[in-house]
Amino acid sequence: MGIQNRVALITGSASGMGRQTARRLAENGAKVVINDIVPEKVEETVAEFKADGLTVMGQVADISSKASVDTMVQAVVDNFGSLDILVNNAGMERAGALRKLTEQDWDLTVDINLKGAFLCSQAAHNHMVPNNHGRIINIASRAWLGGPGQAPYTSAKAGLVGLTRVLALELGRKGVTSNCIAPGLIYTPMWDELPEKNQKFLLSKQPTGRLGDTDDIANTILFLADDDNAFITGQVIYVCGGRSLFSG
Ligand SMILES: NC(=O)c1ccc[n+]([C@@H]2O[C@H](COP(=O)([O-])OP(=O)(O)OC[C@H]3O[C@@H](n4cnc5c(N)ncnc54)[C@H](O)[C@@H]3O)[C@@H](O)[C@H]2O)c1
Repeated sequence: MGIQNRVALITGSASGMGRQTARRLAENGAKVVINDIVPEKVEETVAEFKADGLTVMGQVADISSKASVDTMVQAVVDNFGSLDILVNNAGMERAGALRKLTEQDWDLTVDINLKGAFLCSQAAHNHMVPNNHGRIINIASRAWLGGPGQAPYTSAKAGLVGLTRVLALELGRKGVTSNCIAPGLIYTPMWDELPEKNQKFLLSKQPTGRLGDTDDIANTILFLADDDNAFITGQVIYVCGGRSLFSG
């Protein structure tokens, strides 16, 4: 049971929930790969985790580029010997009304949130299948249900739910599970930048009356990554304080 000595690659893990997930997995005995597109953030995260005695390596790579992803995954296997857990976490959003969105807004959002997860899963599964073991965990969003002003993001995250289901069907007999987490509002520094009236409105819609924090996501990922949890696959798990229960 657990994730002892498992090798975990978390994309976009030099910030936010990816960073906290990387810490939690490493604290539970995994060898963890910190990936991000920003070199200084990777360097700083790896230095901090190493100082805390955790087993980590850094990989600067743009997950929307196949060449970068293939090089990164090969480096992980060369260095740590396998790749057992993949968390497709890196993401961003370009939001706006349909009439205002540009082709670039669409391409960037879909390339990072959806194509990146496809490329990483494709590269990773080549190393999971021969070991008859693997955990792929995709970070979507409650917004996959649909949000006004979120055409690229909602479409990309809905696509990620579809990808999760396909991977579960294709890889189920190979010992590889594929699941999706749909976070709701999670406290990150971005929250502090919102005007107070927006914060009040968003909080008024939360059945739990509060935001989640990065540990709420990290703990769910830790659960899904566990060796013992081999019979949960193809699922979407909402970690959103009940906000998925109604629209609007
Ligand atoms: N924060 C929330 O409330 C929330 C809610 C629902 C879903 N999510 C999703 O959770 C995930 C993490 O969100 P977060 O708030 O922790 O974000 P964050 O911005 O703190 O971290 C995302 C990281 O991804 C990196 N990144 C961006 N493009 C990349 C690329 N091409 N290649 C590699 N790395 C790249 C960024 O540099 C950043 O460090 C995202 O997929 C996001 O869509 C967040």
